[in-house]
Amino acid sequence: MRIDILTILPELLKGPLDHSIIKRARDKGLVEVVMHNIRNYSKNKHRQVDDYAFGGGAGMVMCIEPVDLLIGNLKSERHYDQIIYLTPDGEKYNQKFANYLSTLDNIIILCGHYKGVDQRIRDHLVTLEISIGDYVLTGGELAASIIADSVIRLLPGVISDETSALTDSFQDNLLAPPVYSRPAEYKGWKVPEILLSGNTAEIDKWRLEQAIEKTRKRRPDLLEG
Ligand code: 6GU
Repeated sequence: MRIDILTILPELLKGPLDHSIIKRARDKGLVEVVMHNIRNYSKNKHRQVDDYAFGGGAGMVMCIEPVDLLIGNLKSERHYDQIIYLTPDGEKYNQKFANYLSTLDNIIILCGHYKGVDQRIRDHLVTLEISIGDYVLTGGELAASIIADSVIRLLPGVISDETSALTDSFQDNLLAPPVYSRPAEYKGWKVPEILLSGNTAEIDKWRLEQAIEKTRKRRPDLLEG
């Protein structure tokens, strides 16, 4: 898979996708993540990429030309399955969405900023608009790293234990059960006896019960479907 991320703040994106599992996935060539600085496509001598909103009002708008030139460049090199714009008024992101994106070959992620991007970018270039939740961020960069992380970890070969990604919270609409490791007792705090029993059938049953109970308490909405 290839993910092209379009941003005015490439530095903000470098850290989150440069460590641990995601770094190894990139190093192994399981995914290619390419950052593009939208400013490099500004024809303005100050490399400006925003301007005042027609009709007035507070806040700057990201201009169409640099974004169109950059997307045009990328599209001339390969086919893109989705061109995604990150915005608080997009479709709400969830695990199903991550699963879907992980099946694609090439995607572009455009990080919004300022008051938003010129609507013509959304109407004519973007194919999918995503929000990561009901709160407002200063820009799409943190959302882009969250989406990239959640998609990359699903790609074949990225997580060594293939069953691991499938047993995540949300994959079966249940929150994950509690997990424990050594020591079996710490400061008098004990690990549930069942987990030490070696009875895998009983352990699986216990984990499912715990998952259902936690979901019922914290996220009853997930059990409705
Ligand atoms: Cl994708 N962008 C911004 N700026 N804020 C958000 C968001 C995205 N998702 C939730 N809040």
